[in-house]
Amino acid sequence: MTFVLQQYLASRREAVEIALNEVLPPQNVRPERLHEAIRYSVLAPGKRLRPTLVIAAAEALGVSADVVMPTACALECIHVFSLIHDDLPCMDNDDYRRGRLTNHKVYGEAMALLAGDALLALAFELIASNISCASTESVLKTLKLLSHASGTWGMVGGQVVDMESQGQEVSSETLQYIHACKTGALIKGSVEAGAILAGADPDQQLAFRKYGNHIGLAFQIADDILDVVGDEAVIGKPVGSDQERDKATFPRLFGLDESRRKANAEVEGALDALSVFDHKADPLRAIARYIVDREL
Ligand code: IPE
Ligand code: IPE
Ligand code: MG
Ligand code: MG
Ligand code: MG
Repeated sequence: MTFVLQQYLASRREAVEIALNEVLPPQNVRPERLHEAIRYSVLAPGKRLRPTLVIAAAEALGVSADVVMPTACALECIHVFSLIHDDLPCMDNDDYRRGRLTNHKVYGEAMALLAGDALLALAFELIASNISCASTESVLKTLKLLSHASGTWGMVGGQVVDMESQGQEVSSETLQYIHACKTGALIKGSVEAGAILAGADPDQQLAFRKYGNHIGLAFQIADDILDVVGDEAVIGKPVGSDQERDKATFPRLFGLDESRRKANAEVEGALDALSVFDHKADPLRAIARYIVDREL
């Protein structure tokens, strides 16, 4: 049977959305407005790439999605926390996200800040709750891994240097640091978390880590490219936002063609890293290509 990526992505996305709906705080429970704000952004139409990567990594080792679902949901919560805060006036100051007004535009800055905070905390509660179906040791490892990837050593660190680099000349080394941290860290963390919870041995963990590193960087290069050539109606967020804020991006430093070439080279690296795995890693292989070919 031939593998069809779009079907795979749709089915995993659907499973993740059902699980998210269950784990998010109900809208009719106090504090209602906070819960509404949280659900507004998390349940908005997103690709669910990070939870899908958690699942695909586990499946590559023959472990089914339900074993890693709490952590898959956690990754989406951390991601959406980063999006809500990224859009705030004090950061990228964007008005649209996932085809909707941004969280602070609807609920105000204070609520957007708190919705993000609550999502980060909820994420770690969810990861810890994964002990109901994965080993305690693997859950503890995942907690450490994802705390590391979310904070100063990962997403937050990258966001800081992204901000500091606005309007500045940056070296390609700094640009790579920004992208690997602000976006790559959570993507790599998703793949590694799925692998660890599925019982990957150290060699397998290393292979997944390499794959995650490559696709994480490729993903943000593609995001930068879409900010230049994307269709606002498709990507659901403003096009040209990076140029407007003079952001350090791959197209700005290298031009579009070279940026595409660099993204494709990362995909090759990612596929190389998966060479030790059998056909069960085909979804991961297809996702690597999709990351640079996507229009959304
Ligand atoms: C957007 O991420 C923010 C980045 C880290 C580049 P996605 O492109 O995965 O956004 P959603 O989840 O599909 O909305
Ligand atoms: C986002 O980078 C990285 C995050 C941690 C959210 P961008 O600022 O380029 O993401 P978009 O383009 O607003 O989604
Ligand atoms: Mg940003
Ligand atoms: Mg942004
Ligand atoms: Mg962007």
